[in-house]
Parts: sequence; structure tokens; C-alpha cells
Amino acid sequence: MERTKEFKERLATLYDEVKWLYGELYHGDGQAFEYFIGMLEKFYAERPAYLKELDRKRSADPEWYRGSGMLGMLMYVGAFAGNLKGVESHLGYIKESGVNYLHLMPLLKSPKGRSDGGYAVADFTQVEPELGTMDDLEHLAKECHGQGISLCLDFVMNHTSEDHEWAVKARQGDPECRKKYFFFDDWNLPNEFERTVPQVFPQTAPGNFSWCEEAGKVVMTTFYPYQWDLNYANPVVFNDMLGYMLSLANKGVDIVRLDAVPYIWKQLGTSCRNLPQVHTLVRIMRIACEVVCPGTLLLGEVVMEPEKVVPYFGSVEKPECHMLYNVTTMASTWHTVATRDTRLLKHQLDIVFGLPKAYTFLNYLRCHDDIGWGLDYGYLMNFGIGEVAHKKFLNDYLTGRWWGSNSRGELYNDDPRLGDARLCGTTASLCGIEAAEYEKNEFKEKMAIDLDCMLHAFLFTLSGIPVIYSGDEIGQLNDYSYHEDPLKWADSRYLHRGAFSWEEAELKDDAATRQGKIYQELRRLEAMRAGKELFCAEADVWTIETYNDKVLGIGRYYNGEKLLAFFNFGEDFQTAWIEEDEEYLNLENGERWRAYHIGVPAHGFVWLYKNYTEEKALAQAIAKAAEEGKKKTAAKKAAAKKAPAAKKAVKKPTEAKDEAAGAKADEAAAEKADAKPAAKRAARKTAPKKAAEAKAEEAGAKADANAEAKKGPAKKPAAKKASTKKADGKAEA
Ligand code: GLC
Repeated sequence: MERTKEFKERLATLYDEVKWLYGELYHGDGQAFEYFIGMLEKFYAERPAYLKELDRKRSADPEWYRGSGMLGMLMYVGAFAGNLKGVESHLGYIKESGVNYLHLMPLLKSPKGRSDGGYAVADFTQVEPELGTMDDLEHLAKECHGQGISLCLDFVMNHTSEDHEWAVKARQGDPECRKKYFFFDDWNLPNEFERTVPQVFPQTAPGNFSWCEEAGKVVMTTFYPYQWDLNYANPVVFNDMLGYMLSLANKGVDIVRLDAVPYIWKQLGTSCRNLPQVHTLVRIMRIACEVVCPGTLLLGEVVMEPEKVVPYFGSVEKPECHMLYNVTTMASTWHTVATRDTRLLKHQLDIVFGLPKAYTFLNYLRCHDDIGWGLDYGYLMNFGIGEVAHKKFLNDYLTGRWWGSNSRGELYNDDPRLGDARLCGTTASLCGIEAAEYEKNEFKEKMAIDLDCMLHAFLFTLSGIPVIYSGDEIGQLNDYSYHEDPLKWADSRYLHRGAFSWEEAELKDDAATRQGKIYQELRRLEAMRAGKELFCAEADVWTIETYNDKVLGIGRYYNGEKLLAFFNFGEDFQTAWIEEDEEYLNLENGERWRAYHIGVPAHGFVWLYKNYTEEKALAQAIAKAAEEGKKKTAAKKAAAKKAPAAKKAVKKPTEAKDEAAGAKADEAAAEKADAKPAAKRAARKTAPKKAAEAKAEEAGAKADANAEAKKGPAKKPAAKKASTKKADGKAEA
């Protein structure tokens, strides 16, 4: 296909909509719109051929990022491996850890000591020199693609650093650059804004405005004073910023994380969050990607209450973000750890599971930011639990101040007026591993490691992409060294952003260590998830009533496969009081379990699995083989009557076994074909049938051989057949 034709075709389908949206937002500014379209054309023309090829492949398989094999990891380049070249040299570890989605935290040029962890960008065209160059980034992206890893990068769009060229010029009085930010001559309007705009960092950076001495004006700074809010009501800002985003996509970035996206439109008298114009802008950005780089995904960073999050998916016809963070589920999970009461989490999951399957969530236990307590307090009020008191309890519990708690977190931005502190800490330290190791208490450590692994099992049971923070896979503990660093000590998020410990990572294969226990258990679970299609985002998912508040139950069903999962948040053995009459495979120990009054160990989980398609195919094939066996025996009897000496050729059981092994190998190959989801799906469809046919033939051959030998246990396969049939019949009823 000719390039320009492809571009024209893509644009044609979306042109009317984008023109209308752009015109509505920018008051019919035709010149700005023409510039915008010209920019799309330019970035399309500049897009490297290999990325265009990837776009076409992904457009042909729009489910490419929604399969069961996706596993993400997020990390700071510096903390993990010093610089971009270091990350590239450690791709082996990333690959070995099963990761195929790599989120590198902000790495563009940012002033030391005024960077907010890289979220104050001074130059969108340059990598932070300490971390490498744009060429290194491009090289890494290519290398990742070669190894089947997608690369995610932040696009910090709400603000720039005060050191950005625009901000520098604006300070010096350049009128065009002044229009790119929000400047005020005095505090009157800023004070008006403050009446309705909440604060992001009430303790570390109170207020939403800062005084700029050089300009002699007040400037809007929602986050830190050195992060200047961009004015998206100015189309030049939008066009230029979109250009920076598309140029990152052209460097090979597959997933663009839209940082702090709810904040990008400001209006006096509002909260300056989630305004309708934000959605128009995101939709235009999505359209720009569909035209220039349809293989690129938009991940919205919307850390808001559930009803504010979901609209960022847009509608099915007019989608906005491809993916969003499952933030309320994350916070509700830690609430459940502290309370051992799964009711809120179940309620939250009922909402998430009820959403259209097209909505893809990024699931996580913690990230580089704090855990904010955006819970459903309306629901908690049903139990008389009030917001302020409950936040205090959660913070007390998770910082270890609550009696009996082994969690070791730290508070973040404690707002004494609202009692609204948030929380920091690594997963392992919050689970109690740090306290247990300090006390050298083996029992406590086991309980804490079990909790850590159970939470990961829960994470892997959800639909969407599970993302692990680098270091959590080996249970890394809090890093208190930030208290000694004047550039970091005011921001407790550095507690859980410590340097990755390669020394500890070396212990990952030693099952006697904490690192090995967690790493190996996570690998086992991840591999199991990747190997079963029912973990894909298209599956049906629901919660199960366990009649035990300590035990959360989740069901999944997809294409003949079913999973019942139970998670015990309690510190003692608990029972999920379910009463299903079916038999399942316990994925933990390979035993057959009836789904009836399931016992779940303290801080443990149970995954019960069933494959109706395989079982049905097996039952049918066995029935067919038995029928044929009967016919053969009858024919043999008849023949024996005529010619008693005639011999019959019997297929040896070993031959049939070989076929069964072949079919199993097919299945294994299908599971391995991660990079080719379509092939994987096709292979999976035929594998159970082949396996069943081979198994049935094996059974038939055995029966024949047994009949031949005239000494009995032809009963065994028959008994198996009966139980399989029973289970099957129930499921179909
Ligand atoms: C996002 C980032 C956070 C940062 C903020 C300001 O919320 O996740 O780390 O402080 O944006 O850019």
C-alpha cells in the first residue's frame, strides 16, 4: 500500500469528527487546525518503516495487548541499571522475569533537585544526560521490540519545568510564551481559584499558585512550584505538546502514559479536574494516534474516584484511552489487608467486572506514587465507617502503629486539616516482611511472604495487564536512605523507589531465601496465567459469595475454561462456603477438588480450574472409542466363530501414547507462541481436540489390549468416563 494513501484513508474516516472537536474547543481557529493536520502528515511521513509495519500488524490484531500473556514491570532507569544502556544490558533479566511490557519512569531532561522524580521536564527532545541519549532510547526500543517487549513512557503533559525554554522566555517577558502558562498580576484570581481547587501536595507544596519573582507575577503550579501548568486553551500549546508526544511514539514508544491527564484544563469556579474539555483533548489525541501510529496505546493516569476514571475510556464508538489504572481496586486491596474484611473489595470488583470488556485496566499493587485512600466511603458508611476515622485507622495500621500490625509504611502529605494522609512503602514491607526479618521471626516471615504472594495471585486473577514495580518480584524492602538525601527527604515516595538490588536478585533461584520464595512463586503463577487463555481481557469475570468475609472469591470463564479463585485475607485457616457439585483441578497441587466448602490456608489462595472443552472432547472421544471397541469385539467374536486362528492387528498402547504426547507438545507450542497471539489461539483450538482424540485412542487401545489379554481392568477408563460425563452434564444443564 502506498504510504500517502494509507494516511489519507486513516484520516478520512476521522476527519469530520476531529475537525468538529477541534473547532469546538478552539473557537473555529482554522489556522491552528490546518497546522494540526499538517503535523499529523509530517509525523506519519517520518515514522520509521519498521514501526509502520508494527502498526499494521497490531491493527490487524487489535487484541494484541489484551491476552493472558501480558506482564508489566515499571522502574526508574537510574535505580534499575544506571542508564538506558544499562537497562538494555539487563533485558535478559527482564525477559527471564516474564515481562513483556516495560514502563520506564520519566527520563527526559529535568533539573536536579527540582525534578519531582523526572515529572518536571525541561526539554521534551532530550533524554536526561545522566541516563543517556535519544539514540540510546531508540536503540533500546528496537531491542525491546526484537524481544517481544513493548515500551511504555510517560508523557508529562500538564506542566513543564520552570527551566523549560517556554518558561524561561515567559519569565523574561516573551508574550507568546506567557500565553502558554497561567500568569496573574496579583493574588485576586488565584485566591478565587483556591476556593474550589483541591491541593495535590498540601504538605510538600501547599496551594496551586506560586510567586515568580523574575516575572513579578503569580503563576499556576498545581503540583510543585517548579512545575508550571500549561494552558491548553491555547491551541499552540496543544499542537506543540502533541508534536512531542508523536515524536516519542516515532522513537518506538508503544504505550504513552498520559501523566496527570485530568488536570489539563483549568476553569475558574471549578475543581480544575476532569472538565469536559479534557475529554475532548484526549479524544483528539487518540484520533491523532489512530492516524499516525495506530499501534501506539494511550494509558491514562487518572487517579480519581471510580466514577471519574471510567469516562476516560470514552465510548465504544469514540474511544479515548486504551488503558487506565485500576486505582480504586488497588487502594481497596490495602484496605482489605488492614481490615481482613473483603466486603468493600468485593463491592468494588462488582463495579469493575460489570464494565464493558473492551475497557482494559492496568492492575497493580503499588507504583512509584503513594497509595491514596480514594475508597467508596458511601458504601463503608453502611457499616458505620466514617471517612476521616477510617483513613486514620488505615494509616496507623499500614505504618505499623496499630497494635499487632507488621506493616512498615510511612505517611505521605499528611494534611492535618482533613486527616487526609496517604501512604508509602514497598509491597514486601507493607506485607510485614521487613518487620519479620528485623525480629528474625520465621513464622511471621512465612505469613508475610504468603500474604505478598497471595496479593500477587489476586493481581494475576484480574482482567487487564498486571504490572509489578521492579524489585517487588524479589520482595525488596523499604529504602530509608532517602532520609539522608536533602534532594529527596521531603518526599516520602522515595521510600519505595530505592535502587534495585542486584545482590538480592542473585538469590532469586535459591528457594530458601525470601527473594527466591517470592520470585519463584510469582514466576510459577505468571507462567500459569500466560498459559491459560481464560486470563485474557475478554473473559467473563464475577465475584463469588463465599459466606466468609475474610475470603474473596472470583470466577472467570472463557471459551470453555473456568476458574474459581479464593483469597484468604485472614491470618488463620478459613473456609469458602461454596457448594458447587463440579470437580476442578487444583492448580496448586494438581489434585481433583470438588468445589464444595473450600478450605483456604492463612494468607493463602486456591485456584480451581476446569476445561469443559477438553473434558467434553475427551468424553465424546472415549464414547466413540468404546463404541468402536464394541463393534470390533463383536466382529472378532463373529470371525472367531468362523476362523478361530485368525489374528487381529491391535494398535499398541504405546503408539497411542506417542500421539497423546504429540498433541500435548502441540498445546505446549501453542502456549509458547506468545509473540503470535493469532497462531496461539488457532493452535489452542485444535490442541484440546487432538489431545482428546489421542487420549481416547490410547484408552481404546488399552481396552483392546486388555480385552485381548482377557484379564480385566478395562473398568478403569470406563469409571473415569462416567465421572467426566457427570461433571460435563452438570455444566451444560
Ligand atoms: C503524576 C505522577 C507523579 C507526579 C505528578 C506530577 O501523578 O505519577 O509522580 O508527581 O504526576 O507530574
